[in-house]
Amino acid sequence: MLKVGLVGVGGISGAHIPAWLELEDAELVAICDIRPEMMEKYPDIRQYTDFDEMLENEEFDILDICLPTYLHADFAIKAMEKGINVICEKPISLNREDVKRIYDTAEKNNVKFMVAQVLRFWREYEFVKEAYDSGRYGKLLSGNMVRLSGYPTWSWDNWMRDEKRCGLVPFDLHIHDLDFLVYAFGAPKKTTSFRSKLPEQDYIRAVYDFDGFFVSAESSWYASPYPFTANFRFQFENAIIATDKCGLVVYESNGNIINLDEVAEGDTGEINLPKSDAYANEIIYFVDCVKNNRPVEKVKPAELEAVIDILKSL
Ligand SMILES: NC(=O)c1ccc[n+]([C@@H]2O[C@H](COP(=O)([O-])OP(=O)(O)OC[C@H]3O[C@@H](n4cnc5c(N)ncnc54)[C@H](O)[C@@H]3O)[C@@H](O)[C@H]2O)c1
Repeated sequence: MLKVGLVGVGGISGAHIPAWLELEDAELVAICDIRPEMMEKYPDIRQYTDFDEMLENEEFDILDICLPTYLHADFAIKAMEKGINVICEKPISLNREDVKRIYDTAEKNNVKFMVAQVLRFWREYEFVKEAYDSGRYGKLLSGNMVRLSGYPTWSWDNWMRDEKRCGLVPFDLHIHDLDFLVYAFGAPKKTTSFRSKLPEQDYIRAVYDFDGFFVSAESSWYASPYPFTANFRFQFENAIIATDKCGLVVYESNGNIINLDEVAEGDTGEINLPKSDAYANEIIYFVDCVKNNRPVEKVKPAELEAVIDILKSL
């Protein structure tokens, strides 16, 4: 049984903790947050308000970092220097130099590190990558990705509204789509971007030029309470793969329309997709790497560096 600790019991921990609690081969033994009230809903798990004290008292196989972005690198390094494997929320850091620092520390201490870029584990996005890799619908011609919300008001100490600690829309929101693009298709050859950045709102439209196709992506924190919206549309030679209100749909050029969410239950067809929780998927993947001593191949440091370089240029 792998022993797990988690630090940062804020918003996103609400997606990680239930996933850990479901696992049979790992036990979440302790959590840590400087705000004790954030941990009240987990009375059965040991609680700390001081990270160093938690590391001192506990013996973890894995630490899950759900802290504000600017703390990721230093906390990951501190844990790995104690021989603990680390899974860390995105982004790995706002600084490219931290990628090498983190991976060097992992290597030196013979532990594993993975940044939890959740779209790499999200079935709809995985479906697009599989279609691209297999050529099932011919060549990819274009793509459009959307990720919008209102300006964040919920973060501890308002760290999300502080560019130095969070990196605003590029590093907090747009990173999801760009990271997926770099993972699925490699780094773009050219980036053209437009940004409207005011103190209380931040909008980006970027066009990424790949070999033979391009992808346009827009991300925003609007000043008004715009509902969270994330979707995509990828145009292949013989089909469009899109997410909309109906879920994941393939519009084939021969006239067929396949709703992958409708066929999901009980269908044994080739493109039947099971329902899945991407936050659980990323945790299960990392646990498997640690337990069976497999390399963490799904997230590579060179990809993370390429993403940071582009985000800095937006
Ligand atoms: N993958 C996703 O879909 C997704 C979604 C949201 C957030 N995130 C990422 O997760 C991270 C956390 O975001 P959030 O929305 O949960 O933020 P949050 O502000 O809601 O939570 C952060 C928590 O860390 C605690 N904290 C701060 N300093 C601490 C310290 N020194 N020791 C212990 N606890 C400390 C705070 O009290 C707070 O509860 C960010 O890096 C963000 O980019 C990812």
